[in-house]
Amino acid sequence: MNWTAQDIPSQQGRRVLITGANSGIGFHTALELARHGAEIILPARTIEKATAAADRIKQAVPNAQIVPEVLDLADLSSVRAFAERILRLYPQPSLDLLINNAGVMAIPKRQLTPDGYERQFATNYLGPFALTARLFRAVKPVSGSRIVIVSSSANRVGRIDFENLQSERRYSPTSGAYAQSKLADSIFAIELQRRLTASHSPIIATAAHPGIAITNLQKSGPGETSLLNPTRIMTALLKPFFTHDASHAALPTLYAATAPDATPGGYYGPNGFQELKGAPAEARIPRMALDPAIAARLWQVSEQLTGIEFPIA
Ligand SMILES: NC(=O)c1ccc[n+]([C@@H]2O[C@H](COP(=O)([O-])OP(=O)(O)OC[C@H]3O[C@@H](n4cnc5c(N)ncnc54)[C@H](OP(=O)(O)O)[C@@H]3O)[C@@H](O)[C@H]2O)c1
Repeated sequence: MNWTAQDIPSQQGRRVLITGANSGIGFHTALELARHGAEIILPARTIEKATAAADRIKQAVPNAQIVPEVLDLADLSSVRAFAERILRLYPQPSLDLLINNAGVMAIPKRQLTPDGYERQFATNYLGPFALTARLFRAVKPVSGSRIVIVSSSANRVGRIDFENLQSERRYSPTSGAYAQSKLADSIFAIELQRRLTASHSPIIATAAHPGIAITNLQKSGPGETSLLNPTRIMTALLKPFFTHDASHAALPTLYAATAPDATPGGYYGPNGFQELKGAPAEARIPRMALDPAIAARLWQVSEQLTGIEFPIA
């Protein structure tokens, strides 16, 4: 039987932090979690965007508890300030779920963040790594607590190129920088679980990919400038056949976040042709994501680049 949003267990009394929930798949993930009783901490790049999303959720779920917040994952000082506010607001470990969903895709020309890192790698991977590291002690050390990382099936064409991590030597927007950042997400989820297991933590790490849904993602990266942009052309051609809407695309994340059957280190995506659309099921993990040596090196490099030690204890 297909797993749907109706199968989400009660989230009453649970506190969720989800990034990128003012739009697309993250919005629908937050909406369903709120519908099932969770309190949602909803950071967006501006407080206006966060408040507007909170209002939209409250229209559908009038008694929803939403805490709008500000976070720019592409700026490590913003990640730090946000994490410090959360830790001040909730001094005791009180997060049940941390969902790293926010992302950007296919920025046509290489851009650098305020920290000097390539924007897709910074937003999709380094920022979430830093956020998870800073907020790890806010996650309740109990069974039922989860850290979820949203990847992409683009991880299959990615490789971690330690000599070109910031695309400083060559920049390819989709198959290079985006795919690398999403492979890094998969590696992060698996390595995080390795470390949680080694330290006997009851917290688990899971990952998910949504298949394909037409959201702001396809325009926020490529921009509106070129009608001949390959991503836009591909999107228009494939849309009727190979995409599902954002509410369905949110289901693998919701499964990874809430299903009692989700396994530590598990990776979930749609069960249809090429995992493009369909109901949540186990997804194919690229071989490079399973290599512990690459994972250990990436972790160490990420600690250096973010300036944050991330011990799991
Ligand atoms: N849609 C797909 O087909 C697809 C396929 C594979 C994987 N994914 C993954 O699914 C996740 C959600 O994507 P989506 O399709 O829902 O796209 P979306 O509608 O563009 O949502 C992306 C969210 O991330 C936020 N974000 C972007 N840069 C940020 C930053 N620097 N700091 C904080 N938040 C930032 C966006 O905020 P703003 O509104 O301010 O831009 C937005 O809320 C992403 O990780 C994406 O890589 C999507």
